[in-house]
Amino acid sequence: MARSELEETAQALVAHSRGILAADESTATIGKRFADVGLAATAELRRDYREMLFSAPGLAKAISGVILHDETIRQSASDGTPFVHLLRRQHIIPGITVDTGAVPLAGCPGETVTEGLDGLRARVAEYHGMGARFAKWRAVIRIGDGRPTRGCLAANAHALARYAALAQEGGLVPIVEPEVPMDGGHDIDDCEAVTTAALAQVFAALAEQRVELEAMLLKPNMVIAGKDCPHRAGVAEVAERTLRCLRRTVPAAVPGIVFLSGGQGSEQATAHLNAMNAGYGPLPWRLSFSYGRALQEPALRAWRGSRENAAAAQERLLKRARLNSAAASGAYAGEAA
Ligand code: 13P
Repeated sequence: MARSELEETAQALVAHSRGILAADESTATIGKRFADVGLAATAELRRDYREMLFSAPGLAKAISGVILHDETIRQSASDGTPFVHLLRRQHIIPGITVDTGAVPLAGCPGETVTEGLDGLRARVAEYHGMGARFAKWRAVIRIGDGRPTRGCLAANAHALARYAALAQEGGLVPIVEPEVPMDGGHDIDDCEAVTTAALAQVFAALAEQRVELEAMLLKPNMVIAGKDCPHRAGVAEVAERTLRCLRRTVPAAVPGIVFLSGGQGSEQATAHLNAMNAGYGPLPWRLSFSYGRALQEPALRAWRGSRENAAAAQERLLKRARLNSAAASGAYAGEAA
């Protein structure tokens, strides 16, 4: 049976050990990242930064797709080339974040639901017309005192599934991202239990909304203890538990799983991905990356807002991209390689 265009795109995003660069930080989030290196964010500086990332020479060797924010998909490089064209020229597929952010969930203190369904059909059509071929929606499932509630899991799973169905209808491959963040003192058992429950509910909702599993990608967190938990699991334990959780919940029809980095150090995120691909025999899905911070942090530190630093910053980005691509086939042999 011939594959649909959506299926081809989903496959292409995870083929040849390539992964995705998440560069879709909201204006507020990129502002925080800039502040961390002493920069004040302006639309111009955000554009310069993204231009530096997207024009890194040979980026497509390791990066299949880039996720953009609404502001960025409308911007052009300094020579007037729209970013979407710049990416296509690099043989990179442009994607777009389509949620409008997480807001407090009524009745469930401390929890959020991600919004953006209103008017989504029209926005998907507009982004498709601008050249985007895949989309992203991030739900946030926090672990805490009595959290997550069933209400939070259900509301976020439903919204993710409605989004995914609308994206496919409009010709965009949905990346479905239910994130259990690393913030807090929870241990790895809690993370595994909550991630398993969240994914089970997400796939039930995807089935209910008739989402075609062959034409989507899952973007989960790894199973990992909270940042403030005193007991840190080793690389092998993170890999084992993450795979156990995914095997229990993610149907084999899904072509690829692209992890978020979620605040792990750059090298740690690479080591974890590598361990999963190196030690566990054939898996039903391709395991790759859709990292934001773990790909960008060293580059942002080298760039520091100056065009003169662009080449050095691009080298840092290319190095992380190359090492993560190696990890996507289990061939990462340390930082020096
Ligand atoms: P991080 O890899 O920095 O977690 O970002 C990935 C992402 O797109 C989160 O939505």
